[in-house]
Amino acid sequence: MEQSLPMHDEDEARRPPSKRLANKVAVITGGARGIGAAAAKLFARNGAHVIVADILDDIGATLADSIGGRYIHCDVSKEADVESAVELALKWKGRIDIMFNNAGVPGPSGSISSLDMEQVKDLLSINVLGVVHGIKYAAAAMIKGRRGGSIICTSSSAGIMGGLGGHAYTLSKEALNGLAKSAACELGVHGIRVNNISPHGVPSEMLVDAYRMHLGKMDMTAEDVSRIVGERGSLLRGRCATVEDVAEAALFMASEDAGFITGHNLVLDGGYTSACSTMSFIYQNSNKDTV
Ligand SMILES: NC(=O)c1ccc[n+]([C@@H]2O[C@H](COP(=O)([O-])OP(=O)(O)OC[C@H]3O[C@@H](n4cnc5c(N)ncnc54)[C@H](O)[C@@H]3O)[C@@H](O)[C@H]2O)c1
Repeated sequence: MEQSLPMHDEDEARRPPSKRLANKVAVITGGARGIGAAAAKLFARNGAHVIVADILDDIGATLADSIGGRYIHCDVSKEADVESAVELALKWKGRIDIMFNNAGVPGPSGSISSLDMEQVKDLLSINVLGVVHGIKYAAAAMIKGRRGGSIICTSSSAGIMGGLGGHAYTLSKEALNGLAKSAACELGVHGIRVNNISPHGVPSEMLVDAYRMHLGKMDMTAEDVSRIVGERGSLLRGRCATVEDVAEAALFMASEDAGFITGHNLVLDGGYTSACSTMSFIYQNSNKDTV
């Protein structure tokens, strides 16, 4: 029998995009750039009608136009803005199937002994309350629509392991991990899945800006950050995540491929938070073992 050869990357790239989200209606907060923009493009390529909800109006609207979607100005810290984003989905297509609560900010850095509490509150109003708003209005519409749905929230490796983000940021992302589980517990009966994705070290504008600020090197590029994370922050040595990697995870969680997954946190960290590699020499065979 003739054996087919393994597919090469080039063949993979030429393969027509499958439509894993055909006719689904998605709202993506923080969808104007970075991870959210990559998800908006990927969702649209997979047949979804996408609403980009962000505060960066120019690039958000341009992106939405380019993928046949809609743009809405939406500051997720404002409950009424998030309500309007969900309402737009209902007015436009009569339904919402996917809510991707992705908007987030890094917030203040520095010692906990000198944290500016107003900055902490600002961060929580976006990273935590913004997601509560998203789950609240998407869940209400999905329950009413009786078709189930998928709610995805962007958490972070910083919500799993200390030392990967500022104190307020860490607090906000760990809070999302609890929230996704309690929401999944309530909403499963309606066929609504609630899951988190937790990226790590993705060289988006947010992360590159943070590296520039912390290292005092204002000319750092995304490639520089990618190289540093790949070398020091990944078990897959030399490999750092891209916004497309995270978008693929969001697509999986949004699609029926993840139809039996809820209350889960899908971590995209190249294994970094799973193992400490400082003693990985113990896995090398000694001369004695190899004779
Ligand atoms: N880049 C990483 O390494 C990394 C790691 C873990 C988690 N995350 C999370 O991924 C998400 C996306 O971040 P990114 O890395 O793409 O950064 P980014 O800065 O490129 O994108 C963030 C987006 O959120 C939008 N946004 C910010 N405040 C908003 C608000 N109040 N209302 C609506 N939109 C708002 C921004 O305008 C921007 O479009 C964030 O939740 C972030 O915490 C990122």
